[in-house]
Amino acid sequence: MALSKFTLCLGAIALLSSTLCFAHPGFGFGFGWGGGSGGSTGGGGGYSSLFPQFYQFTCPQVDEIILSVLEPTIARNPRMAASLLRLHFHDCFAQGCDASVLLDNGASIVSEKRSFPNINSLRGFEVIDEIKEKLEEACPGVVSCADVVALAARGSVMLSGGPNWELPLGRRDSKTASVSLSNNNIPPPNSTIQNLITLFQRQGLNEVDLVALSGGHTIGVARCFTFKQRLYNQNGNNQPDETLERTYSNELRSMCPPSGGDNNITPLDLASPARFDNAYFKLILWGKGLLTSDEVLLTGRVRKTMELVKAYADDEALFFEQFAKSMVKMGNLGPLTGSNGEVRKNCRRVN
Ligand code: HEM
Ligand SMILES: *[C@@H]1O[C@H](CO)[C@@H](O)[C@H](O)[C@H]1NC(C)=O
Repeated sequence: MALSKFTLCLGAIALLSSTLCFAHPGFGFGFGWGGGSGGSTGGGGGYSSLFPQFYQFTCPQVDEIILSVLEPTIARNPRMAASLLRLHFHDCFAQGCDASVLLDNGASIVSEKRSFPNINSLRGFEVIDEIKEKLEEACPGVVSCADVVALAARGSVMLSGGPNWELPLGRRDSKTASVSLSNNNIPPPNSTIQNLITLFQRQGLNEVDLVALSGGHTIGVARCFTFKQRLYNQNGNNQPDETLERTYSNELRSMCPPSGGDNNITPLDLASPARFDNAYFKLILWGKGLLTSDEVLLTGRVRKTMELVKAYADDEALFFEQFAKSMVKMGNLGPLTGSNGEVRKNCRRVN
């Protein structure tokens, strides 16, 4: 897919002129377009029929409604942008981008909210509900929960100062959820580089997508629980991870004691935790990537990911371009389309 198809609205400009960014005419997007270069995807084959103008006639206000909720929410609580971005990732990696992650326990549903990566961790569900309620008032039964999650993720990046992009739409919602796919497909924070590459490959995503999308950790926080191994016993030798910079390591230990404090939180990007920028990659170069999965992009002895970390640390525009492309690719994973699935009325339960 060509770069020219993406509208990049950078930094402060994005905050001031969201309408301009969203109102891109979208040349070259027709029926049947959809990240063809993505190759095979997790659940839906290599072809996707999503397209950006999907709601042009059935719910033209969709972008406006999404932003009307996101703007005040993120202004009040900047971390919510991060939480909404992560929600889309965890949705797409388990069973495709089908809003399976939003389903609560029910007669035929075991909620993904209980999976290992999600429990006591995933958030933003109330914001999705608020958006969905407004959409049901304006265009009942039209906009899927899966598209709401994708749109909320894109808007969150943009409102945090990151890129904006044309987002293919038309996903439908699942009638099922899968705790086991959520457990098995979402990489753990202590992953080796090989493990990360394998789990992304399983979704049809390559090393470029892995490094660019990991850049999502330029916003938001993590709990001590997710990186404590690095501070006290990284390799079973009761030593801290030697790739972790000393003073940073000491700071983290004072915040995350050997026992207790598992739910204490710290920024993934300590330089600019609420700003979507390329500081995440600079920090990795300085040994200040918070999670093992962040630092191994550089230290894991895979030349390709190492070079990409350096390239994105050097060139924020390059990172933004690739992040947008990889988000579209991730957003195309196994979508339900046509008459598959449904458009849920309430994102927490099947109709
Ligand atoms: C590459 C493999 C990845 C791993 C191992 C990973 C792991 C994690 C972990 C452990 C946390 C902290 C959770 C907690 O403490 O409760 C986290 C947070 C986060 N992740 Fe990832 N992640 C990965 C990829 C991604 C991707 C692809 C995105 C989006 C494009 C993303 C976006 C985020 C965001 C924004 C947060 C902060 C959420 C918040 O503050 O509420 N992550 N991730
Ligand atoms: C990652 O953490 C899990 C759970 O604590 C542990 O069982 C596993 O051995 C760790 N993996 C690595 C590569 O350290």
